[in-house]
Amino acid sequence: MMTKLLEVDKLTKQFGGSSAKALQDVSFSLGEGRCTALLGPNGAGKTTTIRMLTGLLAPTSGSIRFQDVQQGADHRALIGYLPQTPAFHGWMSGLEFAQYAAELCGMGRREAAQRSAELLERVGIGAAGKRRIAGYSGGMKQRLGLAQALIHRPKLLILDEPVSALDPIGRRDVMELLGELKQETSILFSTHVLHDAEELCDDVLIMESGRIVLQGPLSRIRAENREPVLLLEIENEAGSDSREALSRWLKAIVEPTADQSSIIRYELDPLNSCAAKLIVRDINEARRLVLEQLLEWNLPVTKLEIGYSTLEDLFMKVVIHK
Ligand SMILES: Nc1ncnc2c1ncn2[C@@H]1O[C@H](COP(=O)(O)OP(=O)(O)OP(=O)(O)O)[C@@H](O)[C@H]1O
Ligand SMILES: [Mg+2]
Repeated sequence: MMTKLLEVDKLTKQFGGSSAKALQDVSFSLGEGRCTALLGPNGAGKTTTIRMLTGLLAPTSGSIRFQDVQQGADHRALIGYLPQTPAFHGWMSGLEFAQYAAELCGMGRREAAQRSAELLERVGIGAAGKRRIAGYSGGMKQRLGLAQALIHRPKLLILDEPVSALDPIGRRDVMELLGELKQETSILFSTHVLHDAEELCDDVLIMESGRIVLQGPLSRIRAENREPVLLLEIENEAGSDSREALSRWLKAIVEPTADQSSIIRYELDPLNSCAAKLIVRDINEARRLVLEQLLEWNLPVTKLEIGYSTLEDLFMKVVIHK
């Protein structure tokens, strides 16, 4: 049985001057020691939710309750927060900033200095600790923000898109760091990178237009929504009309028989004009049909792969296709 760290009940937010609700009846709980990914397209309400959890924004209605903290009491000491776009005093050095954050949390000078140095090292900017923040790259600032969020050993680490500003190497590093951190503390992080969420989280919350559209343990969500898929690629020769041929073929085999067909739907790969994903009902039946029809249409196949739908596919399904 999962111990709840925090429970959110019917959280609603209406910004002054706006008629629409940015958040409506959002309810979920975060488990102690769990890592939760908060997903949703731009404007879904992720940052608004996060800012209310951190106490920076007051809800219009609804409640947020921390385990062992009386309702209405201050729970900010339990939270470490990395905002979506963290702001720093550029004239400070990284080390000074971390120390300043530590002292604001009530740490003594010596402990603050020690903890700051240790954390800067841990997030990979130890060597730049004495340099002014104004000269840091985006990725270095992100790491400094992470050090700041961790300074008081929070019970819950809340990160708003922690990797979106990073290059692929920085992203890898921060993901690895989060993988270590999740052994020590509970984490809630928002992201657009579904692959990262899949790799790291235990639980997912998917939001859309201010509401939660799907939530639960990743393993359960995966098992319940896993659909077999066929990945198909055809030859891409300059001057050929492969994409068009592929499109016509897909329409011909999927659409007329949508109800009975073993192929449920298809998506053309937006990045590769000669690739498509077919979401199928029965893999064997679909494979037979596809192979048969590919031959009949004489399409120059280069790849046919069998797999399962990913979190990204599910995201597209609940958020876009609905
Ligand atoms: N201060 C504000 N005043 C008015 N409306 C706001 C304010 N902050 C957010 N909103 C609105 O609330 C909705 C949710 O915004 P929010 O920033 O929470 O989305 P998000 O999921 O974090 O998006 P993104 O992925 O782009 O960061 C949007 O429609 C946004 O315009
Ligand atoms: Mg946001």
